[in-house]
Amino acid sequence: MSIEIGRRFDNRPLVLPWPNCPHIQIGGETGSGKSGLCNVLIGSVAADPNTAICGIDLKLVELSPWADRLTTLATTAAEADHLLVALRDLIRERAEFLQANGLRRWDAKFGPWVLFIIDELAELQAVDADKLAEVISTGEGGPQAMREAKNNQQIRTALLGSIARLARFCGVTIVGATQYPSAEVVDQQIRTQLTIKVMLRVASGEQVAVCLGQGYGNSISPKSISPTERGGLWIVGLPDTGKPVRGRAHWVSDGQVAARVAATSHLTPSPQTLFNEEPF
Ligand SMILES: Nc1ncnc2c1ncn2[C@@H]1O[C@H](COP(=O)(O)OP(=O)(O)OP(=O)(O)O)[C@@H](O)[C@H]1O
Ligand SMILES: [Mg+2]
Repeated sequence: MSIEIGRRFDNRPLVLPWPNCPHIQIGGETGSGKSGLCNVLIGSVAADPNTAICGIDLKLVELSPWADRLTTLATTAAEADHLLVALRDLIRERAEFLQANGLRRWDAKFGPWVLFIIDELAELQAVDADKLAEVISTGEGGPQAMREAKNNQQIRTALLGSIARLARFCGVTIVGATQYPSAEVVDQQIRTQLTIKVMLRVASGEQVAVCLGQGYGNSISPKSISPTERGGLWIVGLPDTGKPVRGRAHWVSDGQVAARVAATSHLTPSPQTLFNEEPF
């Protein structure tokens, strides 16, 4: 099985391996098609009975149409923390299982593949705004609660970093989308793990370097994707080529998402079966 995310410029299909796909970073301006690409990725694996999908969507609206096909959808910072802890525990358990059995790689016969989508990494790695708003509006907690909000940010970064390091061997693929995946927004440890880098439309050469890597800042022009070409992209880190590939993402309409969810929601593993825990 593989995931066809779009077409190359020569019209050949643009495919990613599935399962065992490397982690993916998606960057690009607002409205460039990041969430659209997340929809394509989810839509491509939704029909696989051996795949569980989890998501963090602090913008609330991007992933919710998929809710019935998602094992867990976190839409608040607290839910995101809960999911990160659950995923980290799952990955540790899987890693220990592999080690105990002398295995190097996950297999679907041990448990489902997991696609873990974070739509807006920047939101996830920001200071906990819910908590700050609560402190300010209630006037309770003061400096200590403020510190807590900042600590939560560091804890979340550490959890995600730990997940990213071990996930691939354990059947978990991470997809992180954000407008501007700079080191300030996405922790360096996490960025280096997201080895497939997709860049949708951006405004400057500096943004090209941030999205694809320093070496591409001069060789790929931000003008190479016109504002009218929705879903136009560059992708580097594909397992089958060392070169950047120019292409265009497929588009899944709202109606197609709804139809796919209706056809596949019965395949969704419950949080109890995936994480061995109660849903929140
Ligand atoms: N591959 C595509 N083909 C055709 N139209 C597309 C494609 N990708 C995106 N679009 C159009 O662009 C709009 C914005 O796309 P999308 O919501 O995915 O952007 P985004 O990068 O997630 O933006 P934001 O940063 O604001 O969340 C879509 O509503 C759709 O109309
Ligand atoms: Mg979006």
